[in-house]
This record gives sequence, C-alpha cells and structure tokens, in this order.
Amino acid sequence: MTDSITLRRPDDWHVHLRDGPMLAAVAPLTARAFGRAIVMPNLAPPVTTVQAATDYRERIKAASGAADFMPLMTCYLTDETDAAEVRLGFKEAVFTAVKLYPAGATTNSADGVTDMTRIAPVLETLQDIGMPLLVHGEVTDPDIDIFDREAVFIDRVLGPMLADFPALKVVFEHITTTQAVGFVRAGGPRLAATITPHHLIINRNAMFRGGIRPHMYCLPVAKREAHRLALLEAATSGEACFFLGTDSAPHGIAEKQSACGCAGIFSAASAIELYTHVFDREKALGQLEAFASKNGPAFYGLAENTDTITLTRQDWTVPEAIDAGAAGTVRPFMAGETLGWQLAD
Ligand code: DOR
Ligand code: ZN
Repeated sequence: MTDSITLRRPDDWHVHLRDGPMLAAVAPLTARAFGRAIVMPNLAPPVTTVQAATDYRERIKAASGAADFMPLMTCYLTDETDAAEVRLGFKEAVFTAVKLYPAGATTNSADGVTDMTRIAPVLETLQDIGMPLLVHGEVTDPDIDIFDREAVFIDRVLGPMLADFPALKVVFEHITTTQAVGFVRAGGPRLAATITPHHLIINRNAMFRGGIRPHMYCLPVAKREAHRLALLEAATSGEACFFLGTDSAPHGIAEKQSACGCAGIFSAASAIELYTHVFDREKALGQLEAFASKNGPAFYGLAENTDTITLTRQDWTVPEAIDAGAAGTVRPFMAGETLGWQLAD
C-alpha cells in the first residue's frame, strides 16, 4: 500500500477568496497546498477593471502569507464590459481569464450577463487573444427545475456559443452532470472542465440527511448518484480536459444557517486531502497528479509548478470551524470527519 504520495505542486483553478477578514482567514489555507489559484471576481462590487484586479491581487498576496503563492485574476463579465478593458488586462498580465455568470445564477451574480448578444465583442476579443472564458453553466429561467439547469444551459447557451465562436477557449466550471462530462469530452481541446471535491463526494441526498443540511448546499447543486459517479470517472481518468477546481466558497455560519441560506461549500481547509482521499478510494492515485497539477496549466498555456508537495497516509480530522474574525465562523466541508491523508509540512 502506498503510504505517501509526492506530486508536482497542484493549483486550484477555481476558488472564492472574498476580501477583508474572510480573505485573511482563507487565503493561507489555499496557499498552503496550491501554487496558483484562479480567483473568482464575484466580490461586492465585482472585479470588473484592471485596476480593481491589480489591487485585489496585492491584497490576496499579502493575506496568503506565502511569498510564492500566485493569484491568477479574473474579470467579472457584465452586459457593459468593454472589450478594450479585457485586452488591456491581458496585455498587462493582470487578467488570466474572464468569468461569465448568468445574471442571478448564484452569489453576487446580480451584475452578471442578462443577454449573450451583449457580450459578443468581448467573446471576439477573447477568441482573438486566446484568453479563456470561465463559465458558470446554469440557466436562470425559474421554469427550469434547479436540478436540470446545467443540462439545459448546455443546450440553450453553451452549445450555441461554442458554435458561434469556434476558437474560443472555455472552462465549464464545477460540472455536476453526466451531460456535462459527455459534452466536455466531445468538445475538443478548446473545452475543459473543473471538478470540485464536494461534487465527487456527495450527491443530492446529502442536503437532506436527517434534516436540512445548509452546509451541503452550493450551486450548481449536487445531483443524483449517477451523476456523481460520472464525475468520479471523469476526474480519475487522467484525461486532459478535466482538472482541479475546488469552488471553495466561504460564508459565515450565520449566512448559511438562515431562512435563505447562501450557496457555497467551503473546502479550502482540506482540499488536497479530500481529492487524495477520493482518488485513493477509487484506486486512482496514479492519476491525481494529472488532474491536480498538469491538466490545468496545459489548458491555460502555463508552465507546471516546479516544486512538489507530499501527502502521507495518516488519519486527520477536518477542523470543525475556521475563525474569520469579523466575517464570522466558517464551517468546512466534512467538518469533524476523518480523512486518510494529510499534507506533510
Ligand atoms: O455555491 C456557490 N457559491 N456557487 C457559486 O457559483 C458561487 C459561490 C459563492 O460565491 O458563494
Ligand atoms: Zn465558484
């Protein structure tokens, strides 16, 4: 039995770090394992300019406590986004990607895109400069069942968009369905997907086990078991189109445990251990490095990290809570449960 595993240092290709005291609490947790992280721009107000992203990047670096941690910034796409601003952010090496939230799809997405025709000039520009578009892939039509919103998005939005912009590079973020797995596989080298640890571990029953479980609620919401199994198979396949993105999304306990609790599962405190636990359970540790450390940089056209991390087979318990000071207390995914792997110092 393998008792330790050494990987080229992984990156997190989708994370929410927030700002202020929450940033101070969570950034070091991401930086402890990951070399780089694609940082989501859904702050309030959202990160829509090169200047805002430059300033936010500095705050993240300072909060991370790790001199070599590299935040990779994203631009929040609105109906009004100026393609020239995206081009400038690219030229100045500030923006790594642009994030599309359909307006109203999730936390702080009210300023997102209401009409895809409005963003055609930005998509043209992205295609031209080779910068990826990161997509929250859910329709917001209230007539569509929440469990179907990702599959319907493929048919109504993503498929037509890829056809209209044949050279556009797209990351279908935090996929949750068999339909998304199949679609990404068929999409050729310009299409990839991130997969979260929680969607590899829970299905939708987890939200209702013995009562309502707000800390298991995120968007896209977890689906049926058959979908989880498809995600597991995809993540552990080693295929270049699937890579690590935690979608770690911290909210204070008060915001989660309320009459209208926020969407988001916080996994940064144990992310690499969770993935290792899952890959080990699937007897797929040999594919972990491709998923965690190689496929992401290859898609983004970046070099792989040069240093390594080591995980040892050792029981450790996920912390019950993370103190975020004035931003409250955050409950980690699988708080209090024991995982079979721990990141070595
Ligand atoms: O569950 C989620 N939380 N999904 C998202 O898309 C956004 C995120 C957040 O920012 O809290
Ligand atoms: Zn996210």
